[in-house]
Amino acid sequence: MIQSLTRRACILGHGITYSRSPLIHNHWIKKYGLDARYSICDLQEAELSGFLTSIRNGTLAGCNVTIPYKLAIIQHLDAIDDEASSTGSVNTVYCSDGMLRGTSTDGAGYVGHLREAHPDFQLKDAKVLVLGAGGAARSIADVLVKRGCQSVYIANRTLSKAQEIAELQPSAIETLEWHQLSSRAGLVDLVINTTSLGMVGRQPLVFPLELTKPHCVVSDIVYAPLETQLLAQARSLGRPVLDGLGMLLHQAVPGFQLWFGIKPQVTEELRALVEQDLLSHG
Ligand code: ATR
Repeated sequence: MIQSLTRRACILGHGITYSRSPLIHNHWIKKYGLDARYSICDLQEAELSGFLTSIRNGTLAGCNVTIPYKLAIIQHLDAIDDEASSTGSVNTVYCSDGMLRGTSTDGAGYVGHLREAHPDFQLKDAKVLVLGAGGAARSIADVLVKRGCQSVYIANRTLSKAQEIAELQPSAIETLEWHQLSSRAGLVDLVINTTSLGMVGRQPLVFPLELTKPHCVVSDIVYAPLETQLLAQARSLGRPVLDGLGMLLHQAVPGFQLWFGIKPQVTEELRALVEQDLLSHG
């Protein structure tokens, strides 16, 4: 039998027709002239093990993982790296030395975008307020601590979820009740919204931006809409801002490099392509 030489990767999840990952990866595949293809793979949990065999035997180069399998996938892998184990989630799977490996690139994606958009911003010794305590908050808090932030405050409606994250790094992370947000707003150099507030169809996030310091970077990982009410208000107050689309683009870089051997660039052209798609499909 003649095997196809086309290298393949995909995003694995369930109910994920909205995913922009194919648009991003297929743009890079075309740009770098690769014989490769990236698609959506929508599976039931019982199908995970069989699916992973296709990575182990080389039919697939690897995959991204999204809801609802970021945690469930771990038990099927041979090894996970430090990022995946400290965040308890995997968003990228690849095979090396015959081992099926998982990593988490969300935190690196966030920092990659921050560094690109605000190259003078120093995470080392910074004070950061993270709003929300879901999977994205966990990845971001982990990378903030690893990059030497002085204090990371996590505020969440359900305090126990913030406390779970803080337990991983008790000396660097402090938790706050949601109604205590104002008490830290004036202290921090960076505010990051990781909640779903502000997303299309959801209530806006109400945050006392007027209390923040003039240099405080205001950041939202929501990217639909691209300019959330939080970011619009921050801009009108003259605060530096960071939108959610950049994290989405940057978190895709390590997977592409692992599967296809080229470190792709996050360019204005790619950003414009995804922005256009968001505007036309929401
Ligand atoms: P992900 O894993 O993708 O980050 P998630 O687990 O659904 O997403 O987390 C969503 C976040 O938005 C949570 O921190 C959630 O707070 P709870 O842990 O209390 O549920 C937060 N969130 C959602 N709706 C909210 C609201 N109306 N007010 C405050 N926080 C809200």
